[in-house]
Amino acid sequence: MQAAVLIARLVPWRLDGVSYQPSPFGKLRLPLSSVEGSEHRKMKGYHDIVGDGGSRILEQVAEQRTRITDGLAGVRHLVAVGSGKGGVGKSTLTLHLAGALRARGLRIAILDADFNGPSQARMAGVQGALFVPGSRKVALPRTRNGIAVFSMGSVIPESEALEFESAAHGESHTWRATREFAFLGEILGAFEWGTLDLLMFDLPPGAERTVQYADFLGPRTSFLLVTIPSEVARGVVARSVAALSKGPNRLLGYVENMSGYYCRDCDAIKPLFVSPAPSGLEIPCLGTVPFDPELARHCDRGIPLAELPETPVGRALEHVAQQLLDSLESSTSACAHAAREQTAG
Ligand SMILES: Nc1ncnc2c1ncn2[C@@H]1O[C@H](COP(=O)(O)OP(=O)(O)OP(=O)(O)O)[C@@H](O)[C@H]1O
Ligand SMILES: [Mg+2]
Repeated sequence: MQAAVLIARLVPWRLDGVSYQPSPFGKLRLPLSSVEGSEHRKMKGYHDIVGDGGSRILEQVAEQRTRITDGLAGVRHLVAVGSGKGGVGKSTLTLHLAGALRARGLRIAILDADFNGPSQARMAGVQGALFVPGSRKVALPRTRNGIAVFSMGSVIPESEALEFESAAHGESHTWRATREFAFLGEILGAFEWGTLDLLMFDLPPGAERTVQYADFLGPRTSFLLVTIPSEVARGVVARSVAALSKGPNRLLGYVENMSGYYCRDCDAIKPLFVSPAPSGLEIPCLGTVPFDPELARHCDRGIPLAELPETPVGRALEHVAQQLLDSLESSTSACAHAAREQTAG
């Protein structure tokens, strides 16, 4: 757990009254409240707190916002890859779209926002990477093909869970999301994002949480949604579309992943889900990507796509990457026009 100790020392993870310490057992804990000395015994309950409870919470939030804005000033595009549905390929597409764009020379970083179920460290091959001081903040580990990656999977082994400590038993649910987003803010403010063409957020599952991320990340962040050709998944993604549409974030479109199965023996794409009907999602489709067992193997071993031979999945990802780029570069009005046309047609 040397890496966890290192990050706890390097990253200024401290809000007033709340410090981030690895436990004596090496587990990284995010306390929900002060647990030092007698304060532990005098811990107030949620309903006892008057005003900000002396926490300077408003000032802290304002300070954090300034740090985040400054830290992301050199980032051209912010894209959150979400869905609402779990296990549909958000992390896979985030990494491999980043790889396809990186191969075109773009400067890319990924923030794995799934703190409790991080996938990027393994997929991107940065498990166990050390977070070391950069010129002003903490430098980000990079993949072999030069993508900067923050993932909790670099500091916490897969056998351990991120813990949210609470001295107020039975009330941690009221603070958990708050602490998670405060933590996300600390990551955004503490690491060197530098000059980037694209920062991609790999979101956790949950339609409600997708909206929370939109709210936290603000209108600068556009959304790319991932679905698979099953009615169950599409139904959840449709809810995410409906929820996100109420806010100011731009919905770039969706990708249909696992759209058929690529059989290497017969070099053909075979049906995987029986879904003849169109998706019904009222946002542009940026492409379809088949299921390729070789891609899953690459993900498990942390090997970049560049080492995949020319395959249908490789070509599909190239196509989606181009569509994503076009969508990001196009004006908001052109995107709205295309969405209207697709809906009408
Ligand atoms: N097109 C694909 N071809 C082959 N394997 C794929 C493909 N898309 C995803 N997978 C595999 O499916 C599994 C789930 O994908 P992934 O972890 O990217 O989903 P997710 O939506 O990020 O999940 P979660 O909701 O848990 O974050 C992984 O093992 C991944 O390698
Ligand atoms: Mg994931």
